[in-house]
Amino acid sequence: MTQGIWRSKKIGVLMGGFSREREISLKSGHAMAEALRQRHYNVDEIDVDLQLIKRLLQQPIDVAVIALHGSYGEDGSMQGLLECLKIPYTGSGVLASAICLDKALTRVLVDLQGITIPEGIVLTRDDDLKSVENQIFRRLPVIVKPNREGSTIGIHVVRKREELKPAVEEALQMDSKVLIEDFIEGTEVTVALFEGRALTPLEVVPHSGFYDFKSKYTPGETEYILPARISTEMTERVQKQCELIFKNLGLKGIARADFIVRQNKKPYFLEINTIPGMMETSLVPKAAKYDGISFEDLVEGLLEGASLKVGS
Ligand SMILES: Nc1ncnc2c1ncn2[C@@H]1O[C@H](COP(=O)(O)OP(=O)(O)OP(=O)(O)O)[C@@H](O)[C@H]1O
Ligand SMILES: [Mg+2]
Repeated sequence: MTQGIWRSKKIGVLMGGFSREREISLKSGHAMAEALRQRHYNVDEIDVDLQLIKRLLQQPIDVAVIALHGSYGEDGSMQGLLECLKIPYTGSGVLASAICLDKALTRVLVDLQGITIPEGIVLTRDDDLKSVENQIFRRLPVIVKPNREGSTIGIHVVRKREELKPAVEEALQMDSKVLIEDFIEGTEVTVALFEGRALTPLEVVPHSGFYDFKSKYTPGETEYILPARISTEMTERVQKQCELIFKNLGLKGIARADFIVRQNKKPYFLEINTIPGMMETSLVPKAAKYDGISFEDLVEGLLEGASLKVGS
């Protein structure tokens, strides 16, 4: 990494976009742009819409900082477009981004590395829920998730039989695949990764008991505990698992993996985000600050690692 290579260049922070997490992305993007301005970079904030290609051709940028969450931003699409336009960009490349936004596929690849995941099944719009219903009823409570979403959008905990069908139908409206996982009771822990190194695990305690959209984005709704109240051994174990996933799935820059630790004995991997929330109060910046990395250092570090990945 070369210090300051983008200092006299035009930086475009890509934010907003078309996903259901648009509003969160705008906040992440503004915060990241502001951090770079504090460090005297020349920054344009670009709200991504259908005019993006025209905008990039008419007012070129030298490097893109991607602050988009969810579809068309975190799923490899934007990374592919920037590869074609030969604009270096921050974070993971096309393949790693596409894999990690796909929870079902990530589960398979993480499982292959010997990391524990909750038991689960994947349903598509063509599958008949009736044929697996009894199998699911035996496992209640379960959690039903659209395969490629974020911010707990479209996710439901199903405790009673009659709640299953509406939860699956809602999730299938958001994605052609739905994931039904055993609901794991335990301590929720999230681990930030910066350039492949796992930071101190952070514990998330939502007052409502479920870390939903409201708990994530309403001040005071969730308690954040640093370091997470898990043993030193468990801390090292989840950190190691994260670093393994980061390396083997070919992630770059910043990422954040979510786990539930059951009875301080067993960590269950839930998912890994390649473009996690990046407001100053988001989880990755919180963990970074605890480890002595300021928000500006984090964003500048992410920028310095920007590159084209295809053919490299
Ligand atoms: N198998 C599970 N057992 C218990 N709780 C779960 C399980 N899966 C998810 N959760 C809860 O639901 C929340 C959202 O799930 P998950 O992290 O998979 O989805 P997301 O919407 O992609 O989240 P993010 O905002 O982190 O991108 C988790 O933070 C956790 O609180
Ligand atoms: Mg999550």
